[in-house]
Amino acid sequence: MKKTKILFVCLGNICRSPAAQTIMQQLVEAKGLQEKYEIDSAGTINSHAGELADERMRNHAHKRGYTITHRSRQIDPSRDFDHFDMIIGMDDRNIATLQRLTSEKKHVAKIKKMTSYNKIFKETSIPDPYYGGYDGFEYVLDLLEDATKGLLTELEAV
Ligand code: 4NP
Repeated sequence: MKKTKILFVCLGNICRSPAAQTIMQQLVEAKGLQEKYEIDSAGTINSHAGELADERMRNHAHKRGYTITHRSRQIDPSRDFDHFDMIIGMDDRNIATLQRLTSEKKHVAKIKKMTSYNKIFKETSIPDPYYGGYDGFEYVLDLLEDATKGLLTELEAV
């Protein structure tokens, strides 16, 4: 079976996108659908390459039962745009960067925004929690839990 390959993208790949990757992976596993999906994440910058996710994000996620083990990597445009079916950015800056990294129509068509899958929340971006406090991380997790459910519902409906 051909897997649907999903890449979540944020700026540093230490807060939002590794959380999105882990929540989506655990959701897919809970539904027994892991054979159908390949899920990864990447950042648009390389400042944190090789690092585990931000400790604050790992701790907040852990309280909800998510174990984030991903290590940060920068997106590799020469491979990732071909390899993945969906490249999902967290905010407008991520989307703009992704659009600058490719000029191929078939690649541009793969770029999506995470909040387009939200059902409960009406945000237009997943806000960067890096410079904020406790509430910011919890809110990002609320948004990501809602969006991953919306995304999987959409994918399983086709
Ligand atoms: P992320 O958060 O994009 O959700 O991983 C950030 C991580 C690092 C930085 C900014 C945002 N930074 O400036 O290093």
